Amino acid sequence: MKTRVVTVNDESLSQAAELLRRGGLVAFPTETVYGLGANALDGRAVARIFEAKGRPSFNPVIVHVADMDVAAALVEMDDRALAVATAFWPGPLTLILPRRKDCGVSELCSAGMPSLAVRVPAHPVAQRLLRAVGVPVAAPSANRSGLLSPTTPAHVAESLGDAVDMILAGGASAVGLESTVLALDPGMPPAVLRPGAITAEDIAAALGEDVIYDYGDQDKPRSPGQLLRHYAPRTKLRLNAVDLVPGEALLAFGSVKFMGVRGGGAAHDLPDTALRNLSEGGDLAEAAANLFRMLHELDREKHSAIAVMSIPDKGLGIAINDRLKKAAGSVQA
Ligand code: TXA
Ligand code: MG
Repeated sequence: MKTRVVTVNDESLSQAAELLRRGGLVAFPTETVYGLGANALDGRAVARIFEAKGRPSFNPVIVHVADMDVAAALVEMDDRALAVATAFWPGPLTLILPRRKDCGVSELCSAGMPSLAVRVPAHPVAQRLLRAVGVPVAAPSANRSGLLSPTTPAHVAESLGDAVDMILAGGASAVGLESTVLALDPGMPPAVLRPGAITAEDIAAALGEDVIYDYGDQDKPRSPGQLLRHYAPRTKLRLNAVDLVPGEALLAFGSVKFMGVRGGGAAHDLPDTALRNLSEGGDLAEAAANLFRMLHELDREKHSAIAVMSIPDKGLGIAINDRLKKAAGSVQA
């Protein structure tokens, strides 16, 4: 089937819902990044996600539902889970919880583990789609495995091409970074496995309990997505750059007024193709929303590397730096 990028209206939404129910793949906008959706109850449909992404089959997939009540039918929600869900859903938070035996969700979504990742997205198009389809929707980010997450419909089309049956175009994702992944294993401290817009401090405040960051170790990651080679552009990244090497592009944060090029020249004279500023005013939310789009744009040109200015490691900056470190850990394909 040929990929169709469609604008959202009642008709395209009901077509998308029908496609999903019949085992098709539909990319849809969420407030974090675009998701590549499949009917989570249909193992063959979920398998198509792995095929389309070229994703290693051990990596589990987040199941998206319209509200907390549907989530509670799929996973066991204890008091802590109910408290964070009430505080942050719908929103950019994924919960890893024990899956219910009778939940009907394909085992592929859990990749053989007793847990299941669930999320209630806030984006109005995602909400409308989930309500229309009436089944839980398995959806990783809508990109080829290991490459950058998509924040626009064009990114999805570029990355997945004909492997996806329909792309619902809903503008650019407002958050721009994947959801915070929180593990709530009974009897264990709550642990952020992947930082995102909702920080450990936000969650601790809602729970009245300390929340740890657990990025796992590289030999035995607690969440397969913690592997270092992830979210990677083709071009090499050079982090915490304080000046530029000729031939490099610059991904700036804040003012570039005092940034020079080795051998002479100033960063602000770079051509448009080689310069992006995540946020001239140093705003972390703006930087997060721009991050993947700007990396995509700079990655399209042939630069020797992308130099990235340092970003404060607090609040949302923790999540931005996590993605940047992963992108820099990549090897050129
Ligand atoms: O913002 C998002 O979360 C986006 C949108 C589409 O919702 N989705 C997304 O999915 O980023 P994906 O598949 O690219 O990343 C899911 C992350 C991976 O790091 C995966 O390893 C982890 O969640 N994960 C999923 N299920 C898990 C489980 N049962 N236990 C531990 N980690 C899990
Ligand atoms: Mg992903």
